[in-house]
Amino acid sequence: MIPFKNDPNELKGKRALVTGGSRGIGGAIVRRLLSAGARVVAVARNPVEDFPADAAWIQGDVSSVEGVQAIVERTSAIVGGVDILVNNAGSGRIYPGGSVTIPDSGWQDCFHTNFFSAVRLTAALLPGMLERKSGTIINISSGAALTPPSGAMIHYSSAKAAMNAWSKTLATEVAPHGVRVNTVTPGNVVTPGADIVRADFTKAFGVTPEAVTAAIPLRRMGVPQDIAEIVGFLISDRAAWITGSNFIVDGGQNPTV
Ligand SMILES: NC(=O)c1ccc[n+]([C@@H]2O[C@H](COP(=O)([O-])OP(=O)(O)OC[C@H]3O[C@@H](n4cnc5c(N)ncnc54)[C@H](OP(=O)(O)O)[C@@H]3O)[C@@H](O)[C@H]2O)c1
Repeated sequence: MIPFKNDPNELKGKRALVTGGSRGIGGAIVRRLLSAGARVVAVARNPVEDFPADAAWIQGDVSSVEGVQAIVERTSAIVGGVDILVNNAGSGRIYPGGSVTIPDSGWQDCFHTNFFSAVRLTAALLPGMLERKSGTIINISSGAALTPPSGAMIHYSSAKAAMNAWSKTLATEVAPHGVRVNTVTPGNVVTPGADIVRADFTKAFGVTPEAVTAAIPLRRMGVPQDIAEIVGFLISDRAAWITGSNFIVDGGQNPTV
């Protein structure tokens, strides 16, 4: 991973929780926050070998009420309150037969992992932020929410679209109390999880990685650092007047103005 070049003290004294922080985009966000001096707790279901020694890793599952409760308890035992929450954990699988073939359980799993996880964690950690009159929340959405690629992933697009609407409203609600909430919308980023989904897409619909890259005006897929950089900025005081916004980071792929 290319070293980050930010101020190493910018987030000194801040305590962060990053969901899905073991690899991919979340892994890069953990490293970006560490490089700015934050104390970082990352949660994922499975351990990874290359997790940074200066962050704390906790095993947990964000997709259930009990899982979120346990994550909040373990996090508070390690760092106390949380000043920075990055709701990044998420995943999508495809149903090649299209939207009508997505079973009820597929919709539910997808919403619990991608949307309710963020709602529940935020509900648990927000009171502390409101009390301290300071805090930042970043919700990692997806370009699939803005331009749903296919019925095969409409459950995922819908869960991320729900996240966008919730994030915007929450931002307005808590802004007068000193808490900022923003959404980051990645395009196609090379990560262990997304690579599997794209391989399934290629198999089902013949959309090759070359075709994906060709649709990106900057002519390359993203790397996790591309997303981590904007998250690092949005969390910092340099972004003190930014809330309720959705930042698309996708090499120019989203066609809307
Ligand atoms: N990469 C892209 O092209 C892309 C594009 C748009 C949006 N996104 C979004 O970016 C975020 C990160 O995706 P990524 O591409 O970095 O995926 P990834 O490589 O699959 O990483 C996902 C992370 O989330 C964790 N995770 C998944 N389900 C979890 C659960 N139920 N509880 C706790 N942790 C869980 C994973 O660890 P475990 O599996 O061990 O739990 C892993 O740490 C997701 O929200 C995704 O929807 C990605």
